[in-house]
Amino acid sequence: MLIDKYGRRFTYLRISLIDRCNLRCRYCFPINAKFLPMENILTADEIIRLGRIFKDLGITKVRLTGGEPLVRKDFVDIVEGLHSIGFKLNITTNGILLGKYIEHLKGKVEYINISIDTFSPEKYAFITRSTTKFFYTVMENLERALNSGFKMVKINTVVLRGFNDDEIMDFVEFVKDRQVSLRFIEYMPFYGNEWSPHKFVSINEIKSRIEKKYRLEPVKGYSDVSVDFRIPGFKGLVGFIGSISSPFCRTCNRLRLTADGHLKPCLFSPFEKDLRRLLRGGARDEDIKEEIIKAVYNKPFGHPDVDALLSKARENRVMFAIGG
Ligand code: 5AD
Ligand code: SF4
Repeated sequence: MLIDKYGRRFTYLRISLIDRCNLRCRYCFPINAKFLPMENILTADEIIRLGRIFKDLGITKVRLTGGEPLVRKDFVDIVEGLHSIGFKLNITTNGILLGKYIEHLKGKVEYINISIDTFSPEKYAFITRSTTKFFYTVMENLERALNSGFKMVKINTVVLRGFNDDEIMDFVEFVKDRQVSLRFIEYMPFYGNEWSPHKFVSINEIKSRIEKKYRLEPVKGYSDVSVDFRIPGFKGLVGFIGSISSPFCRTCNRLRLTADGHLKPCLFSPFEKDLRRLLRGGARDEDIKEEIIKAVYNKPFGHPDVDALLSKARENRVMFAIGG
């Protein structure tokens, strides 16, 4: 039902529940981050109403992101509401509050992505601008999630040269005995996120470093954006998300909804459609559907090269405001 002028079909929606986060990752949060006014953040009822509308339009899979989705007090209500609509639900979290929610998520959420960029508590405190204590909490929650029967637990690792590129093999070896899907992510430039070409590590480089020691066997049809591999004898998978060096725009099947209710068809484009105004202005579901169909049809093809991205980074929202 949702299709754009390049013929791409959309079945996957990422919903940012809130732009706030209990961490301040350097590659994500500008130090002077400004937050959306709380009254602009969609309520649980508004999110669930939009959920129904998107379901009617053919969305089958929803990922809850942020900021940090678990800092919302009504997180469980939102999960229950969206689950009862019949979505396949996934969540991306930094893992700090996960322990508290694991029981609620069982049977409702399929994939849980947890962000972990280092195995050093000190480096963790540095990159997240927080404390070593949080590192231990996240690792504990990761192990709990692994033992809780979710379809898949994934680890998101943004690779930054001079920070964690010396830990690439440690990450790979971490999945030897754990059924977890590790994904190395290329560092993307956003306004105020300390990006520089010197810190950027391409997935090709990461992959060839791993291949010096291990054989990577491609795994087909598992994820849309990451290219995943099995290593003989390993329980987990190793994957790569090369948003910068190998954009996957041609096969993009995803849309984003920001925490303040703007439909954002493309992560790298400032183009947005304000659905909150429609919701709060008394629009009927049918009118909202029409606006969504139009906005999706006009989704930009994709993002150009890194230079163009950098020069545009200022006009666009930052990652935590879009939904990671
Ligand atoms: N580059 C790549 N990934 C990023 N994330 C946040 N900022 C960036 C960035 N600059 C991703 C991380 C994190 C998720 C919430 O968002 O993978 O796990
Ligand atoms: Fe928070 Fe995730 Fe951004 Fe870190 S990367 S500051 S955990 S939203």
